[in-house]
Amino acid sequence: MLSEVAVNEIKDITTRYPTKRSCVMPALYVIQKEYGYITEEGMREVARILGVRPVIVFEVSTFYTMYNKKPVGKYHVQVCTNIACSLLNGEHIVKVISRKLGIKVKETTTDKKFTLSTVECLGSCGTAPMMQVNDRYYENLSDDKVEEILNGLK
Ligand code: FES
Repeated sequence: MLSEVAVNEIKDITTRYPTKRSCVMPALYVIQKEYGYITEEGMREVARILGVRPVIVFEVSTFYTMYNKKPVGKYHVQVCTNIACSLLNGEHIVKVISRKLGIKVKETTTDKKFTLSTVECLGSCGTAPMMQVNDRYYENLSDDKVEEILNGLK
């Protein structure tokens, strides 16, 4: 069950957007913050609070990669492997991180600290290769820089 704080946060969102439908994306962020990922119950809560059909919420949550469909680690490492990043060793960066963490893409470390994902373009092509860890971008990645970043995540 969604907390009262989260429900109020979603209701507040409706005061800042022109239509209920345009509230779906920010409301899903509230769900993700609340549960750590997008649950089916959370999607139904969003639909109920916004007064939209559940399918509208399901469509949005399944289309965008920034909504986690299952639990992720404390740090969600998302490496861009789209064209600009791939041309500048994005796939290699994935391998470096995979080796360092001892997990494959779509896996979480046993201590639940890291989840590794690959994602499509994050809009930072000019600083490729890049990755996003939770809400922060890390750009112009190299092997050494990745090592330093991961070691700095406590
Ligand atoms: S291709 Fe990686 S940020 Fe655009």
